[in-house]
Amino acid sequence: MVLLHSLEALKDWQSNAGWYDEATGFVPTMGALHEGHSSLIRQAKSQCKRVVVSVLVNPTQFNDAADFAAYPRTLEDDAAKASAAGADAVFAPTAEDLYGGKPSSKPIHWGSLTHAYEGAHRPGHFDGVVAVVDLLFQSISPDVAVFGEKDLQQVAVVKRLAAERHPGIEVVVGPLVRDRSGLALSSRNARLSDQGVEQALALSRSLRFLQDAARKGEDWKGALERERAALACSPGVTLEYLDAVDASSFEPTQPGTSGAIHAVVAAHVEGVRLIDNAPLRT
Ligand code: PAJ
Repeated sequence: MVLLHSLEALKDWQSNAGWYDEATGFVPTMGALHEGHSSLIRQAKSQCKRVVVSVLVNPTQFNDAADFAAYPRTLEDDAAKASAAGADAVFAPTAEDLYGGKPSSKPIHWGSLTHAYEGAHRPGHFDGVVAVVDLLFQSISPDVAVFGEKDLQQVAVVKRLAAERHPGIEVVVGPLVRDRSGLALSSRNARLSDQGVEQALALSRSLRFLQDAARKGEDWKGALERERAALACSPGVTLEYLDAVDASSFEPTQPGTSGAIHAVVAAHVEGVRLIDNAPLRT
């Protein structure tokens, strides 16, 4: 496996004769790799001969400077994990190199997709995600790009980006990976104490209750209100939102709407922002 620290190193690696004859799978990450990331790398490898993993803590998608500063940076460990999962290259450029100078991002307005839920609570977040994914897609020109269902709204935004600007790239979605207790794996979990991990379990618990309610055919509005109230008084949890949405538009669902529905939740525990989701109807 090769570790490529710059766009130039990437281009050199790609300049080998016949490079474009083989299918390339791509898994973009911000590093601090865990089993959720590894599962996406394995999925990419099962579909493509060659897999590139990018590692960049992208400054333009952080609306909170403290969160950016505290984000774990563990490149050596990441390279070992990526290699073990089947990656052929880890591309870890600096933001300045990738953005050609000063990192910048243009505002994107794709309705609820970019401005509700994550977009509303993290202003400018999806401008940064679209900017970096667009540049990574241009530099790597993969055939397949794999994203995790953990970031459900990001999946919908990236699918729109690919459809508009990179129609040759197939966006594949990998399932959300949890630990045994039900906590959604996240690079940010490393910042939680044992008590914080216990408190964070309230999120996946509420999602499970909502799934049970959906299975029993209960009215979601009532179940959502009950779980919002439960999370609002759950020790250590500061709730941002809990809702049921159409996973492709990120419009809230109305009683009687058809199509796939997911419950989505975001909350802070010990100052760490956590998100999670679960299908209510597929
Ligand atoms: P990051 O949070 O590192 O996530 C990289 C990829 O791993 C994303 O597609 C994310 O959905 C997926 N992932 C994270 N936790 C997961 C889990 N528990 N189960 C399954 N997949 C999981 O998402 C980003 O980075 C950035 O926004 C990025 C797309 C790299 C752009 O900077």
